[in-house]
Amino acid sequence: MSQKYLFELGGENIELGKCEAIELLKTEKYEPKLVYYNESIIILDVLKEINKMVIRRLGMTKRVSKVLYYSNKNKFDEILKEIPRIDIKKKSFAIRLIKKEGIPENEIAIKLGEKIPKRNKINLSKPDVKILYYSDKKTIISIWERNLETYYKRCLKHHIRYRPFFSPIGIHPRISRSMVNLSNSTKGDNVIDPFCGTGGILIEIADMQIEAIGIDILKKMVENSVGNLRHYNLKGIVVEGDIQNVENYDFNAIVTDPPYGLSTTTKGEGVKKLMSRSMEIFAETMKKKQRVVMAVSNPKLINPKDFTLIHKFEWYIHKSLTRYILVLERN
Ligand SMILES: C[S@@+](CC[C@H](N)C(=O)[O-])C[C@H]1O[C@@H](n2cnc3c(N)ncnc32)[C@H](O)[C@@H]1O
Repeated sequence: MSQKYLFELGGENIELGKCEAIELLKTEKYEPKLVYYNESIIILDVLKEINKMVIRRLGMTKRVSKVLYYSNKNKFDEILKEIPRIDIKKKSFAIRLIKKEGIPENEIAIKLGEKIPKRNKINLSKPDVKILYYSDKKTIISIWERNLETYYKRCLKHHIRYRPFFSPIGIHPRISRSMVNLSNSTKGDNVIDPFCGTGGILIEIADMQIEAIGIDILKKMVENSVGNLRHYNLKGIVVEGDIQNVENYDFNAIVTDPPYGLSTTTKGEGVKKLMSRSMEIFAETMKKKQRVVMAVSNPKLINPKDFTLIHKFEWYIHKSLTRYILVLERN
């Protein structure tokens, strides 16, 4: 039976967060349909209940909850009449307002609370369940359960500054995570990062029980990646060598952050030449429909001759640096 879920996205890059959720659910065969979208809120209608391990993969979504009520109405008294008794088994609960217009908060909490059986205890600090009330153009009431945790907060433990081997140019773990989730990869697949550096992307691949393969031209970077993976108790294959080594592996997708400026080496090759050679190697080694997800600073250097551009996201780092994420599919 189909079910609607409410996704509250982090504010970093709404478009990236929205596509991450949709692409991941497509990969995991939930056939998601976008039924509502407003600012950082989306509702997806999916085929069946979403497995908590899939929710755990989401990097750019703060919270996922199951929609109980969804309508165009905004008169609270009318809405109340349509809501049946809310059954949350024996769990403790809190009522939280995400956004509301025109209705006092305590009125919502009291009247909605009357729909929950008396046996359920209120726990405002650590409830098992949160009943979320959102009212804007639509009214949405949804149920969040404590075991439905996304990666959004947990990823801070993976933050670059907590890793034993630090790279100032490493991508934020939430973004790396979303890149892997855009690559159409699932548990047990092999995903390769041929410019792995200190292993920021490899950590996310391995954390999602996907096989991580890393390549870097610098021995020191290989050691850093191995050290960082070990720090989080994660496994991966990391080899020293040129990007050409991708041809030695059987893989389902490439997720990578190639050198883009003066601070990372290209061993004298130059970014322009390295990018054009990389695209040729990717095209030769990849099968139809497989994806390359890459972070770049100058998308013009990427010639997608044998690929179709599926998504392009842009995010501002500082005045002189805007980065892009390209999602390309092999033709
Ligand atoms: C932007 S950094 C990757 C940063 C990485 N995402 C991290 O978390 O640290 C690019 C990496 O590509 C490596 N590299 C440069 N040329 C290469 C080549 N021809 N083949 C493989 N790796 C190369 C560099 O040594 C550098 O570590």
